[in-house]
Amino acid sequence: MIETSAAAKIILFGEHAVVHGQPAIAIPFSTLRTRVSMAKRAPAFELRSAAGDLLVSLESPQDSDPQLLALMHVILQQLGIEAPAVMLSLSSDIPPASGLGSGAAISAALARALARVTNVSLENERLNEIVYATEKLFHGTPSGIDNTVVVHEKAICFTRGRAPLPIQVACPLRLLVADSGQRCATHIPVSAVRDLLLQEPGPTGERLAKIGQIVRHALVALASSAPDAIGPLMNRNHALLRELDVSSLLLDRLVDAAMEAGASGAKLSGAGRGGNMIALVNEATEASVSRALSAAGAVRVLATTVPTTG
Ligand code: MEV
Repeated sequence: MIETSAAAKIILFGEHAVVHGQPAIAIPFSTLRTRVSMAKRAPAFELRSAAGDLLVSLESPQDSDPQLLALMHVILQQLGIEAPAVMLSLSSDIPPASGLGSGAAISAALARALARVTNVSLENERLNEIVYATEKLFHGTPSGIDNTVVVHEKAICFTRGRAPLPIQVACPLRLLVADSGQRCATHIPVSAVRDLLLQEPGPTGERLAKIGQIVRHALVALASSAPDAIGPLMNRNHALLRELDVSSLLLDRLVDAAMEAGASGAKLSGAGRGGNMIALVNEATEASVSRALSAAGAVRVLATTVPTTG
């Protein structure tokens, strides 16, 4: 039985600025996963949903999901293999276009499955390059943070073009992850920030640099045993993302609702204009913040803990 999977991711600090050379912090969200399993040998390659719907057939590309078809071609070409004659089944708990790395997780789980089926050995370093190549298909200029955190499934500080660094976490952090239900493809807010940088280079560059500064402060706060600074840093990061026009009315409402209900900090997470936001809570505030997020319009509220390191 071949079954592979890959985790979702959460960006704690630094989205968008990371595309323009600033550092960012991301963690895996391991309880939300994409899974690929080999259902059976088949006359020709097929990818189907768990419900049996056809997602990709290389023999009838016209009946395939165009994005998944393009992604399959890149993975096969990168692995240097022909499509095997099998039927794979794909299921995912990660909502697409919601800031949780669904695209990277699909590519990672699919590439792992294709490598296993064809007996190609695939180290994470190489898989990371392959998933990066698929990310480029859909949003042109990915920083590389999504594929890196999804493939390695470790909390990292990531700067474009450099090896990811493990982060130190001295106290566990409890996060609520609330889905606005709004969907927005990553490339839309990423190009909007790029356009803003061209139109208003001074103020936009300053905002991106300030986000980088927040990330550096967050690294220190995360490593300290009194991480009170983390919540306010999340709020400042969200304010700057709003100024970059990548938030949405609903995301702002969720951030405000979380803060009013006692969260220590809150921000959108991922590319924005929809998708998910995160709120920092503790035992005393978790239930009331969760209720407030649902009342303010979140379609799903999940909880996760960022564990201590070392
Ligand atoms: C998307 O998860 C994070 C962005 O910073 C884009 C990227 O880093 O490629 C918005």
